[in-house]
Amino acid sequence: MNNILEVRDIHTYIGQFYILQGVSVAVPAQSITVLLGRNGAGKTTTLKSIMGLTAPRRGEILFEGQNLVGKRPYDIARLGIGFVPEHRAIFKALTVRENLEIAERSSGDLKKRIDFIFDLFPDLKRLYTLPGGQLSGGQQQMLAIARALVPENRLLLIDEPSEGLAPVIIESLMHAIRTLAKQTTVLLVEQNFIVARHLADRYTIIEEGRSVHAGEMASLTQDPALIHRYLGAA
Ligand SMILES: Nc1ncnc2c1ncn2[C@@H]1O[C@H](COP(=O)(O)OP(=O)(O)O)[C@@H](O)[C@H]1O
Ligand SMILES: [Mg+2]
Repeated sequence: MNNILEVRDIHTYIGQFYILQGVSVAVPAQSITVLLGRNGAGKTTTLKSIMGLTAPRRGEILFEGQNLVGKRPYDIARLGIGFVPEHRAIFKALTVRENLEIAERSSGDLKKRIDFIFDLFPDLKRLYTLPGGQLSGGQQQMLAIARALVPENRLLLIDEPSEGLAPVIIESLMHAIRTLAKQTTVLLVEQNFIVARHLADRYTIIEEGRSVHAGEMASLTQDPALIHRYLGAA
């Protein structure tokens, strides 16, 4: 199978806490895969484990066949993986432009990418010289994603992009993520099941630190019992 990323049975500790107790996720190239699960299930920790921010003690994470476990976050990013963390950690005192320029440091070339970024998020063009702190929540999320697009990443990890945003903003974000996924692969955490259902091709459900179910999104939407059991929705 043509998986750009394969997380294989990872076990991750945070301090002395045994948080991930066997998570596996397969992410086919050029697709959108979503991690689902209740609050505290281990979705964010899974993304951080991939990035090496909370390194797994056991298991393998293969990116284009190469094992990431044991590599440092910076080196993992350099391989072509972008991470958009929860709560959009942009620099509020820096302008939109400066936020994007900082993202250049690792390996990107903003000049080469800026047209693509403006096509995807036209708002950012208008706001280019404003401080990040003056942007709305939705615009800050767009900037957070745009930062991960400055290097030509082949895989993007995006943690809860729709959190706290108005429906109309979520709609335009979903459109952007779908456009993005034509060029790159996306692994997403999304608590809003309606958003997840419309965006994702595949899903993996995480419960209490373990991956318990995975498959095509189209079949999950036809299985209300499964959705109810693991997600408490629908
Ligand atoms: N820094 C930390 N110290 C201790 N426990 C943590 C820490 N970060 C996360 N956890 C715990 O790990 C579990 C998984 O958290 P997380 O991956 O953030 O869940 P999710 O993203 O699915 O809501 C939760 O029980 C959470 O309380
Ligand atoms: Mg989380």
